[in-house]
This record gives sequence, structure tokens and C-alpha cells, in this order.
Amino acid sequence: MAGIRLSELLSALSPPYEWAGEGDPWITGITGDSRRVRPGNLFVAIPGRSTDGHRFIPDAIANGAVGVVAERPPRAPLPRNAIYITVRSGRRALAELCSEFYENPTRKLFTVGITGTKGKTSAAHFSAAVLGETATELISTVTNALQRDLEQTTPAPEDLQRWALDAVRQGKRNLVIEVSAHALHQQRVHAVDFDVAVFTSFSHDHLDYFRDRDEYLDAKLTLFRRLAPSAAAIVHLEDPAALRVLRATRAKTITYGRSEKADLWADEIELSPKGTRCRVHTPRGSFPLTLKVPGPFMLENALAAVGVGLVRGLPPERIRERLEGVESIPGRLEIYAAKGGFTVAIDFAHSPDSLERVLRFLREFYPRVIVVFGCGGDSDRLKRPRMGAIAARLSDYAILTSDNPKGEDPRAIVREIERGLLEAHPQARYEAILERRRAIERALERARPGDCVLIAGKGHERYQIFRDRAVPFNDYEFLVELGALEAHGASAPAA
Ligand SMILES: Nc1ncnc2c1ncn2[C@@H]1O[C@H](COP(=O)(O)OP(=O)(O)OP(=O)(O)O)[C@@H](O)[C@H]1O
Ligand SMILES: [Mg+2]
Repeated sequence: MAGIRLSELLSALSPPYEWAGEGDPWITGITGDSRRVRPGNLFVAIPGRSTDGHRFIPDAIANGAVGVVAERPPRAPLPRNAIYITVRSGRRALAELCSEFYENPTRKLFTVGITGTKGKTSAAHFSAAVLGETATELISTVTNALQRDLEQTTPAPEDLQRWALDAVRQGKRNLVIEVSAHALHQQRVHAVDFDVAVFTSFSHDHLDYFRDRDEYLDAKLTLFRRLAPSAAAIVHLEDPAALRVLRATRAKTITYGRSEKADLWADEIELSPKGTRCRVHTPRGSFPLTLKVPGPFMLENALAAVGVGLVRGLPPERIRERLEGVESIPGRLEIYAAKGGFTVAIDFAHSPDSLERVLRFLREFYPRVIVVFGCGGDSDRLKRPRMGAIAARLSDYAILTSDNPKGEDPRAIVREIERGLLEAHPQARYEAILERRRAIERALERARPGDCVLIAGKGHERYQIFRDRAVPFNDYEFLVELGALEAHGASAPAA
């Protein structure tokens, strides 16, 4: 059976650690989840927020674990033949051991990590396109949800390292990983050997998880602090946090943005709902670019990918061709012509800054914008009134509905959005329809020729998550089911 001797595996572990027990078992797998333990596995106990892996050591052993890695000595005596290794950080150990177990695959791949509050998924998809789809493995919110049935943006090290090894075995050359702040905080990418790290943006988010903005930014900075001097950091220069990122790294830096001060920048920008035309300037020459994915922020995300291509040594002409070949990114400002002469946009905007940017963009092109959105449950409640206020100010009609209410009462979430909406604009035109299907139908009924209906918040997602169940639902598929769109995939009417 595939595996590795424990002694050999432990060569990857940062000191100090202590080994108790006799023998040098053959390890057939590693996991931090006691339910996934198979005979011959090593179990790593991780203290989490809601539960502590140390409680599940007996279960792991009952499932066949031959060794345990933990931060504390065992509470109860273990079977005689079980090995017990004590480390400082279970999370770091899990990351190091998984990398070693799967033959350190990220050292063999050109590995790109993309972080930022917004734009990660889009920049990751553009980067994978630039590096060549067939030669590149892409681990992103979208590929995880659509191909791997995983709700997380950045998987645990067990999956991440195994997928990287699979990519090596399939002959792939590049790996693009979308790296969330949670993943950095939990050291899921600790042992990943990054050649490039990208910083897209920083804004208010995840303050339900991190203590404050500084702790959140600090989590993001770890990716840049850890970069080797031979690696590259690609940083969005116009972001207010850019200087802190640039200062945090020893890697060579490449900046991108709208101004000439950046290493990679664009001008002659013509935005439209059909896409963006511009001229891109790089130290290796300038070229015209036509992006089919619209929106000024998508141009920024694409510039990050230009940087990734240049670091990889690709000629600008190849980079241009491959970016121009990207038709759309699931759930990221997808724009369709609807029957009835109006436009429908689907976008994953589920935070105040994204909703604001998308609405500002659409308002430039459509006389009236109707927005349908909600807010997720069990997460940052401050977002709700802020998103309500943004809808009040920037849309002509708002339909408040459910997003993923999770453990909360959908009505209570909508009331919080409503409060912000009315505070910002007491005469705002809106209604609340909790059922998302009905809310979308209502928006389509209200739309007049020339209008734009923005369906925000769920993008590519395939389920709506309630307290006790996940119900299959996808905004785009629902529009198709209604027969609301012009010929499949038709783009927006000329605005
Ligand atoms: N550079 C950007 N700056 C601000 N907003 C952006 C940017 N890029 C995309 N957006 C908006 O944020 C939404 C999510 O974009 P994307 O999925 O690329 O970001 P993300 O960082 O992966 O988000 P998440 O953390 O929610 O997965 C988009 O649908 C769009 O509304
Ligand atoms: Mg994402």
C-alpha cells in the first residue's frame, strides 16, 4: 500500500517535537478529521474554535490510527502500540506532514497563491487561463464548488496537497490556489512552496472571525512574509493596504493598477457591459486588450494575471491571447439579454464594497437598475444595513430576499438590511420577498425594456443553505428554467 515510514515523514516536521512509543509504523495516510481516519493513518489533533481535535483521539485510534500528533499529552492511556508525537502547533504539523506525505508537490509546480478581500476567484481564473488551462490545476471557490463539491475556498492540507500531487501525476506544470484569510490564519497553506503571491484588495470583511481589521490584514500578510526572495509578489498598487504588503515581503515585487506608477497598468480604458477594451503597459511592452468579462474591477483582476504570466516568462502576445479567450467566470458579472428587452446580470457580490462597485458600474449603462439580494446568515451582521444603504442609494428598485440564511431566521436578516436601506433613504422603493425564486420573478416582472436586473450574492453557488437543509438552487439555472433569457448565453443588448 502507498505510504511512508513514520520516521521518514517526521523529517518534515519543524522542531521541537517529542516522540513517545515504540516502533516505526508504515503510515498510509494523514488526516485532522477523526471521521476520515483509515487503518494505518496518522491522526493530527487540532484545537479549533468550535471543537477540539484532542477530544477525538480515542475515536481516531478506534478507526485504526497507528499514531497521533497532538499539542498536549494524552489524557487517557493509549494502546501499547500507538505512537504519540507532541508538537507546538497541530495545524503547522498537519500542513508539513501532508506536504511530505504527498511528495512535496508544490515544489515541482509553478505555484501561484492569490489573496485579497475581493477579486481572488476572478484573478485566479484569469491566471489559470494565462498559464494555459490544460497545464494548470486551479483550486478556487468556483472549481471547488462545481467540480469537487467542496464549499470552502482553500481546502485543508490533506486535500490541497493530494490534489497538487494528482496535478503533478497528470503532467500539469502550474498550480493556482485561491488563498482565503481563514486558510492563512489556520496555516492550511503553511508548507506550500509559492513562486508567486498576488494581493488583489483589502476591505471590511470577516470581522466575525478576526478580532479586528489589523488581525485580518495580518493574516493576509503571512502569505507575503513567507515568500522566498526568488519568488514574486504581485500587488494591486491602488489598494490602501498595498504599501504594507510590499513592505512585508523579501520577494521581488510587481505592482499593477490604473496609474503609470504601477509596473503593469492600463489606459485608454473603454468599459461596457459587453466587456472592456484597453491598452496594457508592461516592462516587456504594451498591447491592446479586449476582455469579455466586464467591469473595472475585472480589469484589475486581469492585470494581476498579466503579472503572473510575465513572471512565468510568457510573451505578452500569448498572455493577451489567453486573456481574450476567457468567455466568462461563473457567477462573476455574467450579463445576459432577457426576453422583454432588458438585461439580467448575475454577480457574486455579497459584501458592501462589491455591491457598491457592481451597482456603480451598471448604473453607467442602464437607465434603471433593479437589484435582488440578501445577506448570509451566521456571519458578519454589520454588512446587512450597509448593503441595504448601498441598494437604497444606487439602485432604482430593491427586492430584499434570502441569500444563505444558514442557522438564522431569514426574516430577521431581511429586517436588518431594511433598516439600513430606510436610514439611508426613507423613500427608497423596495419590497421584501423572502423566497428567492419569487423575488427573482418579481424583479423580471417589474423590468422594462432597457433596464438591468442585478441578481447579486450567490453567483456560481448551487445550493441555498437553510438551518437544517441545503436546497439545490442556482440563479442562472432558475432564469433558464423560467425561459427568461434570450438564446442561451446571449450577451447584453448594446447599452
Ligand atoms: N478587485 C475587486 N475589488 C472589489 N470587488 C471585486 C473585485 N473583483 C471582484 N469583485 C466583486 O466581488 C465579487 C466576488 O469576486 P471574486 O469571487 O473574484 O472575489 P473573492 O475574493 O474570491 O470573493 P470570496 O472571498 O467571496 O470568494 C465579484 O462578483 C464582484 O462583485
Ligand atoms: Mg473566492
